[in-house]
Amino acid sequence: MVGLRSLPAWRAARDHQQRLANVHLRELFAGDAVRAERLSLEAGGLLLDYSKNRVDDDALASLFALARDAGLQGRIDAMFAGDPINETEGRAVLHTALRAPRDARTLVRGEDVVPMVHGVLDRMADFAERVRSGAWSGHDGRRIRNVVNIGIGGSDLGPLMAVEALRPYANPRLRVAFVSNVDASDFVSRTAGLDPAETLFVICSKTFTTEETLTNARTARRWLLDSGADEAAVAKHFVAVSANREEVERFGIDRINMFELWDWVGGRYSYSSAAGLSLMLAIGRDNHREMLDGSCVMDEHFRTAPFERNAPVIAALLGLWYSEFFGWESQCVLPYSRDLHRLPAHLQQLDMESSGKQVRMDGSRVDHPTGAILWGETGTNAQHAFYQLLHQGTHFVPCDFIGFAQSHDDIGSHHDLLMANFFAQTEALAFGRSAKQVAAEGVPDDLVAHRTFDGNRPSNTILADRLTPSVLGQLVTFYEHKVFVQGCLWGINSFDQWGVELGKALASTILAEIESEDEPKLCHDASTNALIQRYRERR
Ligand code: F6P
Repeated sequence: MVGLRSLPAWRAARDHQQRLANVHLRELFAGDAVRAERLSLEAGGLLLDYSKNRVDDDALASLFALARDAGLQGRIDAMFAGDPINETEGRAVLHTALRAPRDARTLVRGEDVVPMVHGVLDRMADFAERVRSGAWSGHDGRRIRNVVNIGIGGSDLGPLMAVEALRPYANPRLRVAFVSNVDASDFVSRTAGLDPAETLFVICSKTFTTEETLTNARTARRWLLDSGADEAAVAKHFVAVSANREEVERFGIDRINMFELWDWVGGRYSYSSAAGLSLMLAIGRDNHREMLDGSCVMDEHFRTAPFERNAPVIAALLGLWYSEFFGWESQCVLPYSRDLHRLPAHLQQLDMESSGKQVRMDGSRVDHPTGAILWGETGTNAQHAFYQLLHQGTHFVPCDFIGFAQSHDDIGSHHDLLMANFFAQTEALAFGRSAKQVAAEGVPDDLVAHRTFDGNRPSNTILADRLTPSVLGQLVTFYEHKVFVQGCLWGINSFDQWGVELGKALASTILAEIESEDEPKLCHDASTNALIQRYRERR
């Protein structure tokens, strides 16, 4: 497999980086009156302004050439066509089929999956409608008022992020909570004050073998039965989302109450699958469809737009530009919307589980950095926490700023104040304040260095009119495809996650040792043995 650094355009891109390494964004803007206009594009309802990046036209051209050298278009086509591009697991990668319109066709091993997708969506919609209307009631006939989603990773983060993001669209009579952590405090705190007779559990696990989820699900069943309900009540209070029918039935959930997903849907790409059942319960069928349609808009944009006008491609290449050529290791996502407060966590799994890889698809080791460390928080809170480092620290962190022209909560001048901060931060990062300017403001000599902002810190700005279901779908899908593009350039498999297996296996051995009645023979390293021993003595 040809590595990134052996691609013909790599050297040209590196040369452009060396040429631009000491060029300031101030100069790039001063030399081009229409830079902001030229280096912005609209994809669906999202405006992406990438002008505050340390690139010029020639550098960008070399990055597009790099994408072509890596065969990106062929990889995009292969993904949409349902080819088994997740080679280490022998699977297709078709989250795009989850939001395809009814009349679309996508073949996996010769079978059109679109009717299956819509069959499950219809069942979800029917079920959601019955719960929301009260036609589906608890075991004693009372209305369901609480939904508790039990799942972890992609079976938690995406749906939770979307439920929070679409809060203004949710049915106020249905409270939707999420339990993910095997730490009992998660279950206890999320179910505190809930009446089991009014509570529906959605057990969400693609594999239905995830220990944390099954442990929480068993606790939930006991919680229901301890309230006086009998075994027959389980059918009224438990439904499952999974690709594993046998395990769902073994747990005691009737197959009729199972909503299916498929092996060609990765966990972190599953928010638009049945894993979004809790979300659909919260926002209803129509809003949910609008969100899927939004994803579909971004899918089409990604599939068809030329690289030079393709938002996920451009964002991916810029991310790679900084990691590969500047050596910067992290990236920050900063939504100026409290409703998007779980977006960074969702993107962390999406990006880091996909791109945290050290070998290429063929098993050869990469000789360049892969996935960046992704982190983030909502503005303006983050400004009062870690922006000091973003502005004046020794680490350079490219940032994505996400904001909206309109608020769902129109109170006084809150939104204008929020957005004034949003624009101010991208300006401050890019242009800073020179020592000369600071001194001219009358700052005492001994403080000039402390109050100088070098600037030249890059960011993307993503601006949409309003955080609607459609816009949320577009936004999440924009990041899904950005991750895919980077994986193609690095030659890695963005769709497996072998790196989580070792810890799981060791935990299962250690659990048996912790719970053993007899003194276990501990065969770990000295540190781990001593820690387990101490825990056993004090638990
Ligand atoms: O351990 C990582 C992981 O496999 C994720 O990729 C996945 O989203 C999560 O666990 C949950 O898996 P499941 O939905 O099968 O319970």
